This record gives sequence, C-alpha cells and structure tokens, in this order.
Amino acid sequence: MVLVSREDVLRVLRRVVDPELRVDVVSLGMIKDLRVEDGRVSFTFELTTPACPLREDLVRAVREAVESIPGVNGVDVRVSARVRQWAPPGKAPIPGVRNVFAIASGKGGVGKTTVAVNLAMALARMGAGVGILDADIYGPTVPRMVRVVRRPETRQDNKIVPAETELGVKVMSFGFMVPEDAPVIWRGPLVGKAVTEMLGSVVWGELDYLVVDLPPGTGDAALSLAQTIPLTGVVIVTTPQDAALKIAVKALNMFRSLKVEVLGVVENMSYFVCPNCGERVDIFGHGGARAACERLGVDFLGEVPLIPEIRKYGDLGRPIVMAEPDSHASRAFMEIASRIAGKISVLTMRKGEG
Ligand SMILES: Nc1ncnc2c1ncn2[C@@H]1O[C@H](COP(=O)(O)OP(=O)(O)O)[C@@H](O)[C@H]1O
Ligand SMILES: [Mg+2]
Repeated sequence: MVLVSREDVLRVLRRVVDPELRVDVVSLGMIKDLRVEDGRVSFTFELTTPACPLREDLVRAVREAVESIPGVNGVDVRVSARVRQWAPPGKAPIPGVRNVFAIASGKGGVGKTTVAVNLAMALARMGAGVGILDADIYGPTVPRMVRVVRRPETRQDNKIVPAETELGVKVMSFGFMVPEDAPVIWRGPLVGKAVTEMLGSVVWGELDYLVVDLPPGTGDAALSLAQTIPLTGVVIVTTPQDAALKIAVKALNMFRSLKVEVLGVVENMSYFVCPNCGERVDIFGHGGARAACERLGVDFLGEVPLIPEIRKYGDLGRPIVMAEPDSHASRAFMEIASRIAGKISVLTMRKGEG
C-alpha cells in the first residue's frame, strides 16, 4: 500500500495553473483545509469569484490531478469562493464593498441601465453579494427597472440602509428621493459631490460587487464620478450602429485618460430574434463592435439581442435574468457577468489585495 502525504497532494496541485491568472492554484491560496487520511484526500477549493467562468474546468482539473496520485482512493472537493477587495491607489475603498465596477455609455438610450441591472442580477444568481448604485442622476431609472421589497431607510445616526430586492441585491438611487420626472439641473461637479456624499452614508453590508449605473456620455457628470468612485473598472455599453460605436470609442478614450481600467465592451440590441421563426436578423450589420474592440485593444465581452421581453420585464421591474433565467438573453447576460467577474479577479490578483 502506497502512503500519500500532504506534500504529494500539494506537488500535483502546483501543476494546476489557473489559465487566466497564469499562476498555480496552490500559490494562489485556493487550497484550504487540506486533509489526507488513509489515501482519502479532502480540501476546500476557494475560487476568486462565485461567478468564475472556468469553475467547472478548474474543479475538474484539481480533482483529476489528485486522483492521479498512486494510493489515493477518494477525493472530496468542496468549492467555495472569496472575492478579494480592491480599490485604486489613492482611493479609499467603500466600507464592506470588495469591488466597484461601472456601466457607462457614449450616449443615452443604448440600454446602459438594462445591462447594469441584468448583470447585477446575474452575479447575484451565481451567489455573489451584489449592490446597484444608480448614479445616473439625470435619469435614475433603476428603481423602475428593479422592484424592491424594501425601500431605503434613514437610520437614527443618519446612515442610509439601501433598498433591497427579493434576491437580496442592495439598491441605492436618487430616484427613491426625487420623482423620476423632476428636472435635475445640477452640474457635473455637484453630481460628483452628491454621489460621494450618498456613498459616504450608505451602509451596504458585505458586497462582492457594487455595480454603478453612470450618467451617459462623456460630460462632466460621468467624468466627475469616474474620478471620485473607487472603480476597479468600467464596462462600456454600445449598440451596433456606426454612430453609437464612434461615441463609445470616445467614452473609452475618456476612461483611459482618467486611468480607469476598461473591462470591456458589451454590444446591446445586437441582433433581433424573430419571435415567430427564431431566425436571427442583424438589423445594423454584425461584428462592428467586436472589430472595433480588436482595433482598440479592449475586450469584447459579448452581445445582447434586441427582444421585446427585455423591455417588457424591465418595465415590470423584473430584469429578464430573474424572470426568465433560462432564456437565450439571460444566458448572454450570465456569460457577460462571468467574464467581467473573471477579469476583475485577474486584475485584483495582479494588482494585489487592496
Ligand atoms: N436588448 C434590448 N432589447 C429590447 N429592449 C431593450 C434592450 N435593451 C434596452 N431596451 C429598452 O430600451 C430602452 C432604453 O434602455 P435603458 O436601459 O433605459 O437605456 P439607457 O440606460 O442607456 O438610457 C428601455 O425601454 C429598455 O427596456
Ligand atoms: Mg439609464
């Protein structure tokens, strides 16, 4: 009978490399509570995000690596996840919030809020702690697009407890405080100040990801917020039309000049799926955003179809990812959310825990 030691197990696990982080799972600290007893091996495999896009592959790889050791007659892998906290140098992290990423667009009406709320719900469905900050002060439509089961409350110490959806996603928006049709005539720097003040008084609890819906465009409101919020990165939403793409590139350049990491581009209203025959129609042509991304050296995160259900569920306050989780569109949102979470893991691991 061959005796198996902890060292034997760690040696083979050091050969399992996370393809995105390009570091082995032992050095990454992903192996916890390793026990070896009479050829039975058990450990916890701690992923860097519950939304890990390589989850199945990695779990299979560590299991098979350990099973290949002569003398091992049983492997028990428990999978968990811990998202690392990160904030850019010089910016204080938001208490309790591990990562903040923003959804931006070159112009309004491209589906920025739709993408923001569906990505937030997708991450929550995969087990992450998620909050949504509606920082689009000129059009705070998040409260309309996500129904909350509890509205925000101001505590005695003047701290604000955010609103909460049925899935436990935290939501904060100026839309809870001012009627949606009230004109907001604040200028950019004031928007930055108002949002910073709001952020200072909201108690989020423990969040893996805070998704920020930024004001559209490259005006001083978006600019001011990108400078004040401790962003891990930003996702740019565009539509396939040529003009919209050009404006998205402008936004991309703005974030780059502010040294805000651009996590990638999402193409919304990318194609139409005929509700009768299921045929895909590329109304505005196909591949424009992907090609632009390649040219600009930024990741293309995926495409979301133009379908009536997305608007319908948005109007009902139930993002499609919640209402019809197995639909084609929901799967697209889940994949994009995974990619973003994976990218954030890579970034925060490379830049070190904040
Ligand atoms: N992929 C889509 N398919 C169908 N309707 C969409 C899609 N994305 C957004 N919409 C609808 O388009 C309108 C604008 O979207 P919204 O998210 O409010 O844009 P923005 O925040 O960029 O102004 C909304 O009525 C929304 O429901
Ligand atoms: Mg919006």
